[in-house]
Amino acid sequence: MKEVKIVLVGYMGSGKTTVGRIVANHLNVNFLDLDAFIEEGEKMSIASIFKEKGEIYFRKKEIEYLNKVFLKDESFVLSLGGGTPCFGNNMEFINSKTPNSFYLNVGINELEERLVKEKEHRPMISHLADDKLTEFIGMHLFERSYFYNKAHHKIKSNRNTPTEIAEMIVNKLV
Ligand code: S3P
Repeated sequence: MKEVKIVLVGYMGSGKTTVGRIVANHLNVNFLDLDAFIEEGEKMSIASIFKEKGEIYFRKKEIEYLNKVFLKDESFVLSLGGGTPCFGNNMEFINSKTPNSFYLNVGINELEERLVKEKEHRPMISHLADDKLTEFIGMHLFERSYFYNKAHHKIKSNRNTPTEIAEMIVNKLV
């Protein structure tokens, strides 16, 4: 198989990590999670980085580690953080490196159902009351969709399983 670099973008809770792992397994290539890569390099959790150093510091690190990942001379599936595509020229950079960027487009209601259960460890939403979540996600997704839509491929999930979404990705690989 020729070298393939697959990048998954999408909002928090869109399944980037779960789906990414399945795709990587299926293709027998490494799976990388940008958040995990940053945590490993900085020896701090994402939540602590936000708390102790602030979001701007985190966004700078995100750009730095994204660049580092692409220095790897190997095939991989990379899942980004929900905000990664929206800072610096990250989407242009990614698209210049691979024809295989994918936006996992999940509807607001489904995202809310997932995120309400697991907002604690997510610094962007941990401070929000449950009844403010829908409005926040709606606005945030509206702002971010512009960047997500720069991905080469869009995968719309209509309550599909992670395995089905992984299959859709594999079928669209260039
Ligand atoms: C963020 C999403 C998180 C993580 C950080 C910021 C965001 O990643 O990078 O908390 O701005 O949407 P996930 O999308 O994997 O939750």
